[in-house]
Amino acid sequence: MRLFLDTANIKQIREVARMGVLSGVTTNPTLMAKEKGVSYRDRVVEICEAVDGPISAECTSRTVDELVPEAREVAAWHPNVVVKIPIDEVGLEATSKLSAEGIKINMTLVFSANQALLAATAGATYISPFVGRLDDAGHDGMEVVRESVEIFDQYNLPAQVLAASLRHPRHVIEAALAGAPIATLPYAVLMAMLKHPLTDTGIERFLKDSRSYEKESAKEPSGS
Ligand code: G3P
Repeated sequence: MRLFLDTANIKQIREVARMGVLSGVTTNPTLMAKEKGVSYRDRVVEICEAVDGPISAECTSRTVDELVPEAREVAAWHPNVVVKIPIDEVGLEATSKLSAEGIKINMTLVFSANQALLAATAGATYISPFVGRLDDAGHDGMEVVRESVEIFDQYNLPAQVLAASLRHPRHVIEAALAGAPIATLPYAVLMAMLKHPLTDTGIERFLKDSRSYEKESAKEPSGS
């Protein structure tokens, strides 16, 4: 399973990339609105230069005539850019046109396996079910991931399920067990995956004990 970061924050992206666990990044207009003093294009290019993997950048046009040229322009920012398009009639039509040109699409705001199937059929490379937002509405968000993975596997569809809107480390485990090839996580969720109180106390204890034997060996006369 590949892990992506769901953020437009370059500091967080660089930090996680240095740990060797980052395979890509997803952004959206809401995440970008948190970044001040930088254009969307410049930030996406900066991310592409920091991470060698798919970097999703979202389009906002609401007609096919506007969305297709916007997506072509976004795709031209960098070879690693994946164009993120919300699923609806306009999104599907644009996706079928753009994927035929070889542009990679991440179909976003997916809330059902039916939407996932339509997105895959239109030619999207990545399909993003929003698990947390479904959970918030009282549904089992992970069920969409499970069903979509099963459908794509059963029919050998090349589209990849990108589990999104993950809110806590348990979501990541469940997405992995469901067979999602990719999960995109907020920085805080990735750090929560890493941390364990027993690791912290274990490191502290080993450090303390190593200091005590270093002291002991320092006391021993040389040559003994
Ligand atoms: O990748 C989609 C993600 O950004 C949505 O997350 O937490 O806003 O539902 P959230």
